[in-house]
Amino acid sequence: MNVTDAIKQRRVIHNFRSDPIPDDVLYKIIDAARWAPSPFNTQPWEFIIIRNKDTLEKLAQCSPTSKCDAPMAIAVVILPITAKYPFHQQVGEPEHAGAMAVQNIMLAAWELGVGTAWATIEKDKVKQILNIPEEFDVLTIIPIGYPMDEPPMHEETDRLPVEDLMNFEKFTGLSEGRIMVY
Ligand SMILES: Cc1cc2nc3c(=O)[nH]c(=O)nc-3n(C[C@H](O)[C@H](O)[C@H](O)COP(=O)(O)O)c2cc1C
Repeated sequence: MNVTDAIKQRRVIHNFRSDPIPDDVLYKIIDAARWAPSPFNTQPWEFIIIRNKDTLEKLAQCSPTSKCDAPMAIAVVILPITAKYPFHQQVGEPEHAGAMAVQNIMLAAWELGVGTAWATIEKDKVKQILNIPEEFDVLTIIPIGYPMDEPPMHEETDRLPVEDLMNFEKFTGLSEGRIMVY
């Protein structure tokens, strides 16, 4: 699968088969994560693999907008880079880098036939459940597993048209009809 196909075909998956993904597949997915860019190559991330059913159930309670039945999940932990790179910390770059690692995870998983999602989480609760130190952040929980059904292809209309998103030289305003949610 080429990169463009993976980018365009990936879907968020909410219904999973119960079998967990094998260790070698998981290894390939985390290997893709570590090649994401990060400020000064600080690689400010750690990944917690969760297979324990009780823990998965507890984590499901920490996401009011994400319902799924994945047999596994990956919590993405973000480490601060304050001491060496305070400006980059201040503008939120460790989290940005973490999100890039998440995209690598999602695309690598998709290529391997594995589905993922992004769960928006109540961070304090998740940190407590997973024993994450106070000074670290937790970006998201990625439910992961084999999709229960064949995921439908995106429609072209699932995304805004390219020309509606492009500005040249300066910000030239939003395209007509663009929905803003503020
Ligand atoms: C920052 C972020 C937060 C998201 N939070 C949730 C969430 O809480 N629950 C959920 O079901 N999906 C969540 N999603 C997934 C989006 O709903 C999904 O990517 C979007 O609807 C487009 O669908 P697609 O990924 O299949 O193209 C989130 C995605 C991102 C990038």
